[in-house]
Amino acid sequence: MVINRQMALTKTKLVKTLVSPVVTKRALTVLLTLAAMPMFTALTGCSDSKVSLNADNPLVGTKVTEGDKEPIWPNDDPSIPDGKGVYAAQNCATCHGADGKPVAGKATIDLSDKGWARKQKPVEQYDFITFGKHEGGGAEHPVMRDKLRPSEIWNLVFYVRSLSTPPLTDEEIAEIDPVFGANCAVCHGKKGFGNGPLMKGNTLEPLPANFQSFPRFYDRTDEILWDHIANGIKWEGMPNFLGKEDRAKNIKFDEPYIWRMVGYIRHFHESNKTEIATRKAHEKEEKEEANEANEAKSGSEKSGETSK
Ligand code: HEC
Ligand code: HEC
Repeated sequence: MVINRQMALTKTKLVKTLVSPVVTKRALTVLLTLAAMPMFTALTGCSDSKVSLNADNPLVGTKVTEGDKEPIWPNDDPSIPDGKGVYAAQNCATCHGADGKPVAGKATIDLSDKGWARKQKPVEQYDFITFGKHEGGGAEHPVMRDKLRPSEIWNLVFYVRSLSTPPLTDEEIAEIDPVFGANCAVCHGKKGFGNGPLMKGNTLEPLPANFQSFPRFYDRTDEILWDHIANGIKWEGMPNFLGKEDRAKNIKFDEPYIWRMVGYIRHFHESNKTEIATRKAHEKEEKEEANEANEAKSGSEKSGETSK
């Protein structure tokens, strides 16, 4: 049986929505997929080598399981605006400037440089800020372990990332929602939990990525996400999108649009709102989801369907 790292629960809201792990044998998987969705067989029908998400798989780094430096995941999506407050309170700007540009003689890396930032994994930035690091035996970086709560450090990580790529605004997210809904949600689910309609009966193996999983997505650089959306993941059911068009939505998956998609994927595990506003928004979402589920249930009861 495959237990993906994404199964490791982090957010409380995850517990309710997660689908059960894949137990189906591959032959059965392919048959079910063939029966259910002819158009996707090309994607799932011919994967003969089983790649599970363990340490040997390049999709998941070993970083997240390193000894006593095991990261403590946040309870909810880290807040970029709250991270800004921590950045100010901890005087990070003394060396990194208010905008991430290095102060001469204090730092050299430009935190606002997109090219650099797209190569950084959130979990490594968390490590760096939490535990500090000796740079070539020189000065030690300020260590936040005893000064801040893990959730404050996560806020800081995503604030630092926002200095190079600001998070999508609610308006931008709303613009992309229908594109994601039409092209991705069938596998990844409308809210990114990896539980889209194609997942009914666990017919895809591996499971479509759960974008709400901290351990998985904090171990990804933006560059890797871009590559996986642009070029797909061979044999794993993730299609390639670079160069494709969605005529109905009048968009083209060109290079800049795929970067916007990366920002959209990030919105499932970072927040452009304060911690308090984020919690409220999630509570509201959960209520709406519960209502939708109830409506769907009473609908299928009326039509005499048996629910599974
Ligand atoms: C005393 C100066 C100083 C202070 C204060 C400081 N930093 Fe740094 N920071 C550095 C130096 C030096 C580096 C090493 C790279 C370089 O030369 O720019 C660095 C590197 C970093 C990096 C890049 C790590 C990597 O992936 O290579 C991050 C992220 C970072 N700092 C965040 C912060 C945050 C957040 C704060 C506030 C809590 C902070 N720093 C406070 C000097 C400082
Ligand atoms: C036919 C089903 C399917 C569709 C449609 C699909 N995906 Fe995927 N996607 C998958 C599967 C399965 C994986 C997991 C592959 C793995 O675990 O190796 C995946 C993985 C990913 C990953 C990589 C996650 C990682 O760990 O690096 C990203 C990013 C992604 N999908 C984004 C998208 C986006 C954006 C769209 C729509 C534009 C989309 N996917 C459409 C099935 C799908």
